[in-house]
Amino acid sequence: MKIKVENKKLEDIKSDLEIIFVINKNFAHTFIKDKDTLEMMNFKGENEEIAYLPEGKKIYVGLNLLEYEYISDAVASAARKAASTNAKNLKIAVCFDDMKMGAKAFVNGFILGLYKFDKYKTKKTERELKNIFISTQAYSDKTIEAKELQSAIDEAMIIAKAVNFTRDIVNSMPDEVTPVRLAEIASQVAKENNLECKIHDEKYIQKNKMNAFYSVAKASAHPPRLIHLSYSSKKPKIKIALVGKGLTYDSGGLSLKPGSSMTTMKSDKSGASAVLGIIKAVSELKLDIELHAIAGAAENMVAGNAYKPDDILVSKSGKTIEVKNTDAEGRLVLADCLAYAQELKPDYIVDIATLTGACVVALGEYTSGIMGHNQELKNAMLLSAKNSGELASALEFNKYLKKLLKSEVADISNISSSRYGGAITAALFLSEFIEEEYKDKWLHLDIAGPAYVEQEWGCNPFGAGGAGVRMVVEWLKNL
Ligand code: BES
Ligand code: ZN
Ligand code: ZN
Repeated sequence: MKIKVENKKLEDIKSDLEIIFVINKNFAHTFIKDKDTLEMMNFKGENEEIAYLPEGKKIYVGLNLLEYEYISDAVASAARKAASTNAKNLKIAVCFDDMKMGAKAFVNGFILGLYKFDKYKTKKTERELKNIFISTQAYSDKTIEAKELQSAIDEAMIIAKAVNFTRDIVNSMPDEVTPVRLAEIASQVAKENNLECKIHDEKYIQKNKMNAFYSVAKASAHPPRLIHLSYSSKKPKIKIALVGKGLTYDSGGLSLKPGSSMTTMKSDKSGASAVLGIIKAVSELKLDIELHAIAGAAENMVAGNAYKPDDILVSKSGKTIEVKNTDAEGRLVLADCLAYAQELKPDYIVDIATLTGACVVALGEYTSGIMGHNQELKNAMLLSAKNSGELASALEFNKYLKKLLKSEVADISNISSSRYGGAITAALFLSEFIEEEYKDKWLHLDIAGPAYVEQEWGCNPFGAGGAGVRMVVEWLKNL
């Protein structure tokens, strides 16, 4: 699908369908030529509400607030209607004060909203929109630079496609995307984008004393991989390391999950999939930074050699960990991957993980949790989430919660002694593996909610949302 800015009047653009916004339920606008029909159809102009007029070849859509997520969700709603017809070409008038914001919202509505995962369906969706034309001359009172608008659209397109790339990996079934396959996908990304690529196997992981990581992986028939891609501009102004949780399946291990909680656990590789999407977008955007995408890929399974509650693991950092629950495995993999990331001496480290069900309980399934010791860094990421169309909220640390990770027999326990505040105690566990000089340079994103939702919401389809990609790319753009 192409989104093209046309420096033409709307009536001079040929198309099969036109999308018209009804802004703030105002039916008096000159663009709205079917007021009577809309009223007869009982169209109220509520946000995302659609009225399809096949004879007039028009789709009216309600838009109640000229804000990012309202625009993108209204566009997604109209786009889905348009895609259910045989229309190939669409036209649309733009009308936003902040054109860049509008452009991003448009692209998200179309590219993210129309995403379909039909890899395992024998019948594929055939209908496809080919061209979306955006008229810059629809509003006589506004001058819109066509070139500027097109470049904002092209940039948003790169990011939206990276989100869909991430969604594709996450949605793929666990028997297909094993740690080895995830590493192959990563090396493919590296090849296509001219990135440096290191794939470390289970021997490397053991040899380098990443025993927490290895313990999680060892009961699986599919060996683990430590994935490390890097990108750099010629003279990068800053060096960033991203660390993604890549559990290609999380059965819970011996602390086995109940059946109903096990479904969707193919999505436990969402953090790793996000860091791959992010580095792909960053290299296509040619950002002036050095970026490392590190992913700990493993499968948490059950077998005679599985790691057990009561085991004590020596992590790469040397700290010992008492295992009290094998389902709190992500933090074990991340502990060693964070140690690996710190050895690269980056300016900032951001980890992205579907770490806790508690984060979903705390914030709801549409919002990511942002945690860390540096208030400024957290605020910057919160703003990036907002400006890129993702929902995020900060969860604050405190010293009392930290005490709940005490172990009688090792340096730290892998779970808290209380069932409350689980998203924060998981982050505080990770913090124990961040060296003092890195405490203020580290941020943890718990994407357990929005990484995978079993119903459509806004411009997200059923399944993988690609959480983290847009907000982190936005943050990297502004460094
Ligand atoms: N992968 C899960 C977290 C998760 C839950 C992600 C639901 C997405 C949706 C993680 O490994 C896990 O199982 N965490 C446990 C931690 C507990 C044992 C302390 C949890 O959240 O229940
Ligand atoms: Zn788990
Ligand atoms: Zn997990």
